[in-house]
Amino acid sequence: MTDVRTASPTPFLGLSVERRYRFVYKPLVFLACLIPLVWMTCALFGWFGFSAGVDQVKFLELRCGKTALNMMLLTLMVTPVRQLARLPNLVRLRRMLGLFAFFYVLLHFAVYLLLDVDLDWHMVASDIFKRPYITLGFTALLLLIPLAVTSTNRMMRRLGRRWGRLHRLTYVIAILGVWHFYWQEKIDVREPLVYAGILMVLFGYRWIRSPKMWAVLAPLRTLRSAPTHPAPHTKPALPVRAQTERALGASGVCPTSPNGP
Ligand code: HEM
Repeated sequence: MTDVRTASPTPFLGLSVERRYRFVYKPLVFLACLIPLVWMTCALFGWFGFSAGVDQVKFLELRCGKTALNMMLLTLMVTPVRQLARLPNLVRLRRMLGLFAFFYVLLHFAVYLLLDVDLDWHMVASDIFKRPYITLGFTALLLLIPLAVTSTNRMMRRLGRRWGRLHRLTYVIAILGVWHFYWQEKIDVREPLVYAGILMVLFGYRWIRSPKMWAVLAPLRTLRSAPTHPAPHTKPALPVRAQTERALGASGVCPTSPNGP
């Protein structure tokens, strides 16, 4: 099977797929991923009319958290989009999106640690143990570390099949992230629920495409497709109604039924 990464280049704007991704798409996605950071900086310093409001720490904390979650969901969207839109090379952008998700989670944690709790480690420990939404966020952060560390090509080669298994943790992390978002919301939980809905659609898609699901459904499919075209030299199957009547006997009443004669 041809590897999508090494598929023969199709010239476009005089560039092969490889070069287009390297010199055009990747730099553009990189700059796009930096937009939230630039916007937060402008808001913090009041540049170009942007404002962070009265509580700048809260503003930074919430924006970084939201951006991290958005990046995480975008990373999970790469596979469905590349399959549905038949853009196999889109996978080349996935690592960058995942690493940006990690970057914004780190920033979110740094804001919490440095500006929210003023490096008070006792407070951090007590938050982790006493506030369930922080426990979830912290777990997600810890789980993200091995994924970021093993995101290089070298680690991919070294881990082989285990790399794929390890990186399935992304789904767990996304659940924890959305759950953390839901639990920290005090009044209006509509937004976290929208995120949960998006996550469910993504999981649903993966579940439908997974070979395991088809393996489970295979017996049902054979049952459904069997009687439509009987093989030659076999007795044609009776229509369902005739089969039922035969089973019930001429009277049409089930002999073992408690309502029978
Ligand atoms: C050590 C890890 C983490 C800590 C200590 C932490 C802490 C916090 C805190 C203190 C808030 C603000 C709550 C409030 O204002 O009442 C928050 C909000 C949030 N966090 Fe985290 N978090 C962590 C990890 C994560 C991760 C891994 C994600 C996502 C992948 C995430 C996404 C969010 C989101 C989406 C919000 C709400 C943003 C909004 O309401 O606009 N956090 N987090």
